[in-house]
Amino acid sequence: MAPILPGAPWLIAHRTMLGVNQPYKITLNGIDYVLWQSADGKVSALENSCPHMQAPLSSGWICRDRNTIACPFHALEFDSTGRLFKLESLKPEPTKRQSSPQSSAKPVANPLEIIVKGDFIWTYGNHTPKLEIPTLHEAVTAESTLVGVAGDRTLKAPFLNAIAINYDFNHATGTHRHPLKIQQVNTSHYKENGHHSSVTQEIIRGHNSWLEKLKDPTLALTPRRYINQFEYTFPSTNCITADLPVGQIISLFILYPERETQTRSFVLVFAKTPYPWLIPLMRSQTLKAFSLVVEQDADILQQLYKRETPKIRLPKEEIMFRAKKLYHSWPDPLL
Ligand code: FES
Ligand SMILES: [Fe+2]
Repeated sequence: MAPILPGAPWLIAHRTMLGVNQPYKITLNGIDYVLWQSADGKVSALENSCPHMQAPLSSGWICRDRNTIACPFHALEFDSTGRLFKLESLKPEPTKRQSSPQSSAKPVANPLEIIVKGDFIWTYGNHTPKLEIPTLHEAVTAESTLVGVAGDRTLKAPFLNAIAINYDFNHATGTHRHPLKIQQVNTSHYKENGHHSSVTQEIIRGHNSWLEKLKDPTLALTPRRYINQFEYTFPSTNCITADLPVGQIISLFILYPERETQTRSFVLVFAKTPYPWLIPLMRSQTLKAFSLVVEQDADILQQLYKRETPKIRLPKEEIMFRAKKLYHSWPDPLL
């Protein structure tokens, strides 16, 4: 496939998603990669196809004492630069060594260049960078606690459709009507600056019964009127800070293109609260609530018919059009 937005910085994982000494597979712009993190926090990334007979390295295992990944087919090992690692006892005979490709000191597996900023793992997918890695992620999550990761899944939708829904302020009253019962969404203070934009959103929602609140305590902590601050860093992230009576919930909605008609989504949820004891108590319900939001988006995105020119305009759709413009004029934000 032709890469989508080549040279864009893609946030492909938070450190906690990788685990330790475990292969972690991703697909970006049609190519599969494997990532792994050592116990001392070093993150490595290679193309997933083994250069011997193309087995998926992500089905293999990590050799922790030498930080290599072993292929599941013939157990060849590769280090983080893609070089073949051979134990002394397994090296070819000295006479054969020169002609053996296995003894080459050059990489034989293709590394994926990654940039680790704090706990965030970024990549340009080995393309020439066209845009700087945003500083927003570390800035908004400083002094906050990671609640967890939600909605980590593939959306069977092209990247443009998936990103447009995040810039569409009119879909909350339809797509996300349950269980928050959103009745009205008012936007104000819209600002745009290149690939960055921000807007304030006032949410007015309906009443939840005690039974509903008992089943989902996050509803009890969400007032009937509250403010969300949106910060977009095109194309990877939509950051929403919700001001709630118990503190701030900061959610980073991340997207990257897996294939032409497949988009990866995950949400990193953070909390800034004077009541930190609430976090472990509310973790599972909070992550469930965010996963539901992603499910609801996925559900409608996957049902859409082929896009045509709309015959109806809703208010504030300019924000969504701006995202489409940024996509089509990539990498120039001004066209
Ligand atoms: S296919 Fe990977 S070692 Fe043979
Ligand atoms: Fe949505």
